[in-house]
Amino acid sequence: MKIAITGAAGLFGHGLTQVFCTRHTVFALTRSEADITKADEVRAFFKELGPDLVVHPAGIPDIDLCEADPAKAFQVNFHGTRNVVEAAREVGAAVAFISTDAVFDGKKQTPYKESDPTIPPTVYGRTKLCAEKFVLADPNHFAFRVSALFGPGKTNFVEKVLRKIRSSESVQVASDQLGSATYTLDAAQKIMEVVEARRPGLYHLANQGACTRFELAQQAAELAGLDAHQVIGKPSDQMGRRAPRLKYAVMEMTALKEGGFELPRSWQEALADYIRALPS
Ligand SMILES: NC(=O)c1ccc[n+]([C@@H]2O[C@H](COP(=O)([O-])OP(=O)(O)OC[C@H]3O[C@@H](n4cnc5c(N)ncnc54)[C@H](OP(=O)(O)O)[C@@H]3O)[C@@H](O)[C@H]2O)c1
Repeated sequence: MKIAITGAAGLFGHGLTQVFCTRHTVFALTRSEADITKADEVRAFFKELGPDLVVHPAGIPDIDLCEADPAKAFQVNFHGTRNVVEAAREVGAAVAFISTDAVFDGKKQTPYKESDPTIPPTVYGRTKLCAEKFVLADPNHFAFRVSALFGPGKTNFVEKVLRKIRSSESVQVASDQLGSATYTLDAAQKIMEVVEARRPGLYHLANQGACTRFELAQQAAELAGLDAHQVIGKPSDQMGRRAPRLKYAVMEMTALKEGGFELPRSWQEALADYIRALPS
């Protein structure tokens, strides 16, 4: 297939490009080539490239930045996605949108299914939910809700933690946010399987198991042979952040299971692989 990937310079864009390149012709689009807030630019690019599928992770994932500037958050995360979907429609391409666990309210105590109600308490969550609904109004499209990404290509939460500990600093992370974690390369591989199988719809997608940010950081430090005691757990509401954090956001991958897809490995196995591949 000919596949265009938006936000290709981003963390997930990097992983998606790396994985999809192994089996498809990939057009990796960065913001400087195709700004998704500029409808004409996106349309012109898709007309020229003629993709069969557009994988769309581009957006503003920073929850505090979105809370601080809702207009910009909506412009990029919602209107940008609308531009991508409309341009894809003109060339007959399907869209695989990257969504988030932040569409939920965080009040459940058992894993969220795809069918659970979505009541996002943050601007970021609302922008992504609006975009997701717009995408899924077309039955040929896909949306994948991922959470807490780590992977190669761009500095991420795990790498920041390790860097701080290596420079003998302690690092404070939230101890009360239980969720799923997602290795970008595993998630990209699964997205490729689902789109190749032509099974559109809404999917939860993460590595199996649940962890707090604190557990993720501690495990990363241990796997990297560093002092895990340098990771200090703190309640998220004492961390001076603008946007509220979800206390619970574990996702159950019901759609993948029901579709007969094998679920990704555990987050611990994926993290070990990721850390092994990091330059020391
Ligand atoms: N990170 C997470 O833990 C997480 C969790 C759940 C869901 N997600 C979702 O996963 C997706 C990817 O996240 P990520 O962590 O890979 O984010 P990222 O590293 O910030 O990558 C996003 C990319 O989008 C690009 N972008 C921003 N505005 C754009 C615009 N107007 N036009 C075109 N491109 C634009 C950015 O370009 P520049 O490089 O030029 O800034 C960046 O390369 C997001 O949609 C996010 O909502 C992320």
